[in-house]
Amino acid sequence: MEPTRTTMRRRGLLTAAGGAALGAAGAGAAATFGRDEGPGTETAPETTVPFHGPHQAGIATPAQDRAVLLALDMHETVDADRLAAVMRLLSDDAARLTGGVPALADADAELAAEPARLTVTFGFGLDLLDRLGLAGALPEGARPVPAFGTDRLEERWSGGDLLIQVCGDGDLAVSHAVRMLVKDSRSFATVRWTQRGFLQRPTGGGTARNIMGQIDGTGNPVPGEPAFDSAVWIGEDAGPFAGGTMMVVRRIRTDLDQWDRLDPVGKGRVIGRRLSDGAPLTGETEDDPVDLEAREANGLPVIPASAHVRRAAEAGAVMLRRSYNYDDGPREDGSPDTGLVFVAFQADVEQFNTVQAHLDEADLLNTYAVAVGSAVFAVPPGCGEGGWIGRTFLEQY
Ligand code: HEM
Repeated sequence: MEPTRTTMRRRGLLTAAGGAALGAAGAGAAATFGRDEGPGTETAPETTVPFHGPHQAGIATPAQDRAVLLALDMHETVDADRLAAVMRLLSDDAARLTGGVPALADADAELAAEPARLTVTFGFGLDLLDRLGLAGALPEGARPVPAFGTDRLEERWSGGDLLIQVCGDGDLAVSHAVRMLVKDSRSFATVRWTQRGFLQRPTGGGTARNIMGQIDGTGNPVPGEPAFDSAVWIGEDAGPFAGGTMMVVRRIRTDLDQWDRLDPVGKGRVIGRRLSDGAPLTGETEDDPVDLEAREANGLPVIPASAHVRRAAEAGAVMLRRSYNYDDGPREDGSPDTGLVFVAFQADVEQFNTVQAHLDEADLLNTYAVAVGSAVFAVPPGCGEGGWIGRTFLEQY
């Protein structure tokens, strides 16, 4: 489950306190948006990511090229026992498909042969656990995301009982896995929403650009490091969700027509990093620390007061961003219907809420990006061979 390809780099965040990191925000690198080390660094091509392990795959796993996120609503007749049966079945499907083995009764078994680093990650809506009388199993960090002033949320992109995130390096592998998983849940659930995302890793390695053209994922915590573990994984003493995480999914629509009115320098000032190479406005390379204290000769901060990285960093909470781009094609009037399927993993939803509140209050990016969907899922830990996801709270609790 741990990433086998090295994606680690360290970063710092300089503050008035002489370079002290804000929380663990200063240490970071990107598993998101597909940073990799470029050609020649891999010993063997990876085609499978283990499904079994202490944490679910698809979180610390270096981001694949494609993602489909599905939110299902369970039928009212589904009780805890029925949900357990569904999760046994879906976990079995996921274990097989991610290992390159057809699902049981797979009508297109050939399509399972190339798993393309497929991962399947399951999460549970907080209302579902409440309805099933299992809210007591939830960790302290399982809380809703409140309504924010800049949100323009639509019901069709929000909520959901069961989240299935399928990621992989090929459309066919992802499509096949989604079809098998949905097929096996059809008698128990309806599909509430589907969000498709993509990213394109740079040929020479490094952090990928998002649909706005920005190098995105630089400031992420680094998988395998203690700061990552404490930011992302729910603590060992937290009951059935220990080793799991809380997942926030936001559909964030971007206004690229508006964005493209800015020149590259203006675009860099919105984020606080240069558009050309992702370097902070206070540095020379992407890896340089973001110096929030640096001033221009006229006394103004080099990283503008409402630049996205300043607002995010000053909130002082860490999360793993593992987002994908979406492009639903041009609208009738030709304007692009694009954005981010923004995915954040953290031990406590409060981490996301703290940063989002800061961004909501003032972030130059708010002119160009607006949240139209929002959902929160409690992601249980992984399972061993023969085990299934959700067992820790559906059977043992
Ligand atoms: C369309 C929406 C968004 C876009 C295009 C975007 C883009 C970016 C970019 C380009 C960076 C700088 C590179 C990096 O460190 O990854 C960044 C940093 C960051 N963003 Fe966003 N972002 C968006 C939404 C959000 C949201 C909703 C949150 C959380 C509530 C968030 C949290 C962060 C954090 C924590 C950092 C790292 C700041 C640091 O250096 O400490 N972003 N984002």
